[in-house]
Amino acid sequence: MAKLDKKEISLFKKLIDRHTTVDGKVNQTEIAKELGLPRTTVQSRIYAVESGKYDNIEFPDFDSEEESIDEIRERAKARYRRKRSAHDAKQWFTIKLNEEIPYGILWFGDPHLDDDGANWDLVEEHVEIATQEGIYGANIGDTTNRWVGRLMTKYADQSITWSEADRLADWFMHESGVSWLVWLLGNHDLWNRGHDFYKRLGASKIPIIDWRAQFKIKHPTGKEIKIDAAHGRKGTSMYNELHGTLREAKMGDEADLYVTGHTHNYGMQHLEIASRQRVCWLLQLRGYKEMDEYALVKGFPEHRHGAAILVIIDPRKGARNIIHHCFEDVEAGAKYLKYIRKEARSALDTN
Ligand SMILES: [Fe+2]
Ligand SMILES: [Fe+2]
Repeated sequence: MAKLDKKEISLFKKLIDRHTTVDGKVNQTEIAKELGLPRTTVQSRIYAVESGKYDNIEFPDFDSEEESIDEIRERAKARYRRKRSAHDAKQWFTIKLNEEIPYGILWFGDPHLDDDGANWDLVEEHVEIATQEGIYGANIGDTTNRWVGRLMTKYADQSITWSEADRLADWFMHESGVSWLVWLLGNHDLWNRGHDFYKRLGASKIPIIDWRAQFKIKHPTGKEIKIDAAHGRKGTSMYNELHGTLREAKMGDEADLYVTGHTHNYGMQHLEIASRQRVCWLLQLRGYKEMDEYALVKGFPEHRHGAAILVIIDPRKGARNIIHHCFEDVEAGAKYLKYIRKEARSALDTN
């Protein structure tokens, strides 16, 4: 049966009137020619109009289970506003730290805690140092491997399972005893919805930042330090381990400390940028993954230094520089920090 709307019914009624011959027959061929339709189509439509069998089915009105376009647009607008304000709040965010005398931040390089090549003796040694009074922790990212896609076959070659790796990450964040200031998410952390996993793990108690954190630490003395930390940066050079970091220090936002991980190599430099009237430290952290197959195949000699670096910050008003010194020898740095904290504390007590 032909299905016709009101407009078509009225059109066909007019055409039938116009093309009915004196003997009462409808000239279907003429109508078909006028409309440019096959004669059989015209025939069925004429039958439908004449018999009134074009509109005798009535369907129920089903309620739609879908959101209306207006509701979808409202949701998209609210989502964007939330995303924008969360994003903006992370631009040069401020951490208030109640330290008036020199203290340390131990920057952990790529941990890769579940990798068979992760140097766990060194991880534990550094975790113990990071729990020393006056030392805080920061994690540059790639906490575990979180192999994805074709790389998932690599789980067959490592002794720690994916779920055990998640438990190690949980231990590192919550049970190691380290007072964390920030965790970055590296490429490995973002794989397999790691973004969700780590944000839930941090539960808003520790800033968990995708790839790059630019932040300030404010002290009760009024002094502040600006830190630009990124899991990885643009630009590499066979002549300079700090190439990408240096590029950022010279061309990017101004900061007192630039820290980078990701490429599993070590570099450190105290640099004066005269054109900016600024001194800063550049750190490239090596991390804890050793005997790396990727480095072996690509022919990169393995670095053995800079798994983590201890940055000593001096928030006192008269301090020469906000960063007192950086130590690749973390143990020696921690001993030195104990000594200068004691000295600074007794100077505070006598004043
Ligand atoms: Fe990485
Ligand atoms: Fe890494």
